[in-house]
Amino acid sequence: MTGRPDPESAPQSPAGVQRRHDPAVRGFASDNYAGVHPEVLAALAAANGGHQVAYGEDVYTEHLQEVFRGLFGPAAEAYPAFNGTGANNVALQALTERWGSVVCPATAHINTDECGAPERISGLKLLPVPTPDGKLTPELIDREAFGFDDEHRAQPQVVSITQTTELGTCYTPEEVKAVCDHAHDLGMAVHMDGARIANAAATLGVEPSRFTTEAGVDVLTFGGTKNGLLMGECVVVLDPSRVRGIPYLRKQSMQLASKMRFVSVQFEALLADGLWLRSATRANAMAKRLESAVRAVDGVTVTRPVQSNAVFATLPGEVIERLQKRFRFYTWDEAAHEVRWMCAFDTTEGDVDAFATAIAEEMHNYS
Ligand SMILES: Cc1ncc(COP(=O)(O)O)c(C=O)c1O
Repeated sequence: MTGRPDPESAPQSPAGVQRRHDPAVRGFASDNYAGVHPEVLAALAAANGGHQVAYGEDVYTEHLQEVFRGLFGPAAEAYPAFNGTGANNVALQALTERWGSVVCPATAHINTDECGAPERISGLKLLPVPTPDGKLTPELIDREAFGFDDEHRAQPQVVSITQTTELGTCYTPEEVKAVCDHAHDLGMAVHMDGARIANAAATLGVEPSRFTTEAGVDVLTFGGTKNGLLMGECVVVLDPSRVRGIPYLRKQSMQLASKMRFVSVQFEALLADGLWLRSATRANAMAKRLESAVRAVDGVTVTRPVQSNAVFATLPGEVIERLQKRFRFYTWDEAAHEVRWMCAFDTTEGDVDAFATAIAEEMHNYS
């Protein structure tokens, strides 16, 4: 006996750890509120035990390259990262020079929800463009893609689009291609924030390469956390000739996991057998179910096309407040009384129906 603890024989529920939440309670605030998909947890356990080389030289990360090449073509290179903000910033840095700027929709996560990381950490100027639906078009890109060769203007070098968008809308493959063709004609590269790429693939019903590699996207941030991973996003380079220095940028940006096998194996669990599409299909279907239930409620107006796992709606402010005491969700636009309801891979028909009933009750009490 060495007295050394044996990790393989560790008890399932360590003493002193209790469940401190009710797993039956689900809200509609964010797909990040959901837990970890059981198949992903099982994959983490399978990757445990023994020693593996750290910092991505492990067999899981090696295999992941094949998995991503299978999805996005033989040139694809995958760089697992901890989170979406970090992955987006690594991608943008790899596509730009020190005088570069990035054209993006005003609603883009990089513009609204990354605490200025593109500016502070990546040293980039963002050129946000207001859009009606969260999507860029060639015409909208032109609002900010100008001043090439003017030393007074941060040089537009990247167009960043989000699939599905922050407003729950989904670009068609043709729309992505139009953006990419235009950006490339201008000498710019294209980054896609795919935090919810699985929801887009489920909505469009096409291979993900159709609206990424084949449409001309150069670098993709492939989302995992919102679709059942414990944590993990992946920078996927689709055109390696467009990027420089990703391994260094990932480390400098504090996105290099030492125990990378545990990030990589989660993506393997998600991608190997279609779990990513099954989960996203469920989340999208639950959003559709919620949409059709609330469309029947007087006083509730669905404000945006439901093309993913998000439902946006307006309803009286007083009703929003009452509902938020019963279910978690966020107000998207305070002034317009517009809310965002998100479904996740684990949202059930029962969750949706209970929420829709609560909405109808509160509207009834109000009117
Ligand atoms: C469109 C989009 N991109 C990226 C992210 C990832 O952000 P995080 O840094 O929280 O993983 C999110 C999460 O809210 C998002 O909605």
